[in-house]
Amino acid sequence: MTVNYRVDPGGVLKGRIRVPGDKSISHRSIMLASIAEGVTRVTGFLEGEDALATMNVFRAMGVKIDGPRQGNVTVHGVGMRGLKAPAGALDCGNAGTAMRLLTGLLAGQTFGSELTGDDSLRRRPMKRVADPLARMGARIETAEGGRPPLKIRGGHPLTGISYDMPVASAQVKSALLLAGLYAAGRTCVTEPAPTRDHTERMLQGFGATVERSGATVCVRGGATLKAAAIDVPADISSAAFFMVGASIAEGSDITLEHVGVNPTRTGVLEILKLMGANLELMNARTSGGEPVADIRVRSAPLRGIEVPRRLVPLAIDEFPALFIAAASASGETVVSGAEELRVKESDRIQVMADGLAAVGADAVPTADGMRIRGGAYRGGRLDCRGDHRIAMAFAMAALRAAAPITITDCANVATSFPGFAELGRSTGLRISETTR
Ligand code: S3P
Repeated sequence: MTVNYRVDPGGVLKGRIRVPGDKSISHRSIMLASIAEGVTRVTGFLEGEDALATMNVFRAMGVKIDGPRQGNVTVHGVGMRGLKAPAGALDCGNAGTAMRLLTGLLAGQTFGSELTGDDSLRRRPMKRVADPLARMGARIETAEGGRPPLKIRGGHPLTGISYDMPVASAQVKSALLLAGLYAAGRTCVTEPAPTRDHTERMLQGFGATVERSGATVCVRGGATLKAAAIDVPADISSAAFFMVGASIAEGSDITLEHVGVNPTRTGVLEILKLMGANLELMNARTSGGEPVADIRVRSAPLRGIEVPRRLVPLAIDEFPALFIAAASASGETVVSGAEELRVKESDRIQVMADGLAAVGADAVPTADGMRIRGGAYRGGRLDCRGDHRIAMAFAMAALRAAAPITITDCANVATSFPGFAELGRSTGLRISETTR
């Protein structure tokens, strides 16, 4: 199916909305609940294609999962050793998180398995998980260049290692921690910069011991997990599009409800505040081990900044939206230290630079980021290359454009944000969708 967006220029964003559930937490809820003992009830689950792919993978390994029904899912856990050999290859769709975390989890099983995905996922690097898992004793074959499909041989006992991650990646960290649950002894991972810690929090919620000391996090093999209720907050990565849209569209005032504000995810709030955004966090609370708040965003004139490098891993998925904020700001914004953007669902540096050029904005891609001179842009037609976040970022750009923005190849918005166009329209975004 082909989905294109046409977004007419202008408009303001108003209202109170709750964006769909957090993708990272939704994936993890299915994975941990499946290998736990007992029945886990999940609320707020993301009914997007990525999280549904993870659900189907566990169903294919014999786990009974009811739902999703309005974000409610019930997982009948089979215990650490209860997964069954799947009949065929396990399809992760577009989801890098599913594939990388599953590689760790499946490396510890007694049966073999194969992980595959769509064209975008089959281009993404997997050696970053396969190599350290091999050091633990796993046998994993990749296709050429360390890409999927991955063939994981079962029945090779794992031994804990201490691993210094060369890239700041929560997916790599999580893959090793999940393998570590099945390994002899302790598995420790040291991160070069803080990354999202949802796996650690949820493991603790399921009764596992997770030790943290500075930048190092460790688990011990042989633990059992016990079912626990999980409330998935709204995804700050999805809320980010509305934060940027409301900031750049004069007269906007929008409240985003029940957003996950785990400090390993709030780089976008800090960066937008440095740019002059008017963000107010209200009703801060904790829900299911994760900090949550309502976020009110009112439009404000943004200014260009040099984005502090320490914030890059804490906002890694928000750069498509942040580049649109930068293009709408006064002065220059410089992003560096963000080379990871080149290996996301698309090469987000190149595809964003091409899109910005197509709408008449002044952006220069660099090896590890972008320089953007903010100002007026006209609009135009661009291809988001199947990248959900790039599609949604440019939809918000129309709020400030002089002419319509047409975005092609948007079907993958359904991986993380089902109903984006409809919810956007309800707040004032002038978006229409054509489906062929
Ligand atoms: C994720 C980690 C990040 C992020 C991705 C989700 C996770 O990837 O970009 O969307 O759920 O662990 P990396 O681990 O590659 O940084």
